[in-house]
Amino acid sequence: MKEKLEAIKEKALEQIKNSQQLESLNEVRISILGKKGELTSVLKSMKEVAPEDRPKVGQMVNEVRAEIEKLLEEKKVAFEKKLREEKMKAETIDVTLPAKKPMVGHRHPNTIALEEIERIFIGMGYEVVEGPEVEYDYYNFEALNIPANHPAKDEQDTFYINKDIVLRTQTSSTQVHELEKGRLPIRMIAPGRVYRSDEVDATHSPTFHQVEGLVVDKNITFADLKGTLQEFAKEVFGEDTKVKFRPHHFPFTEPSAEMDVSCFKCGGKGCRFCKGEGWIEILGCGMVHPHVLEMSGIDPNEYVGFAFGVGLERIALLKYEIDDMRLLYENDTRFLKQF
Ligand code: DAH
Repeated sequence: MKEKLEAIKEKALEQIKNSQQLESLNEVRISILGKKGELTSVLKSMKEVAPEDRPKVGQMVNEVRAEIEKLLEEKKVAFEKKLREEKMKAETIDVTLPAKKPMVGHRHPNTIALEEIERIFIGMGYEVVEGPEVEYDYYNFEALNIPANHPAKDEQDTFYINKDIVLRTQTSSTQVHELEKGRLPIRMIAPGRVYRSDEVDATHSPTFHQVEGLVVDKNITFADLKGTLQEFAKEVFGEDTKVKFRPHHFPFTEPSAEMDVSCFKCGGKGCRFCKGEGWIEILGCGMVHPHVLEMSGIDPNEYVGFAFGVGLERIALLKYEIDDMRLLYENDTRFLKQF
């Protein structure tokens, strides 16, 4: 028995010494000490040993086992150390490399455009106000001179909460809130989200943003409107920008107009960007309709005003030459970080 144990020990020590990697050490462990290992089978055959010899043989088995385990452990530690050293050598760190920067957020093109518009009008003495997105039909339509059966209501079909409450289709509703406050004169812009039951495409979305403007004071004329909006256009699109007012119709202004700016790509000659027109439409405007003032308790014989409404996305798309509005809503950082 003793020779057998010696033989097992010799064999194990030899195998351990010759092991070249961690995996083969494990194989040695299994073949000798494992459940079906050689040393284990010696233990199993103890019943063949005479009872009086059993303690001695048991002790010998344990000694051999301890010795093999010790050697396995030493070899394992050595292997691990070697591996670590190799890894460290392969992974030399260049401490002069620049650190990885944390991802920092970025202003959305809509926000950039809005902040610029706000800056321009604040510079002209305007106040920035906000109105509710969930709005009474009265503020969104009725008080803006759009009675129940007016065709303009069809053009701006929206989401009805109930018969009297809608998601606002235009920031023009904030005009009414400001007029009702009766604090005159008024010089305000009101940016915010609006809703329409439009299908999504490159130029439409069921939610988008507008910036409303309203000025009410004594002796305001169309010249004030023109001067103000011309200045606005030059600030946004460049000093050489020309503006053109085309007669239009809005129920809450009279007279009403749409304002075009000369194409800032081609300077007005006509190009792909302005679809050969030389002009790009950017907003609606007009002199506040006397009915609108009257309905909110302001005497139209004493006060006059002008108003305008501009699509925020439209400005952002033009300014940054983005050709699909949907990109503004997808929050793809590859897109957003370009601005
Ligand atoms: N609310 C209009 C729209 O959504 C835009 C507009 C036109 C606003 C003329 C105005 C205005 O204040 O005077 O189409």
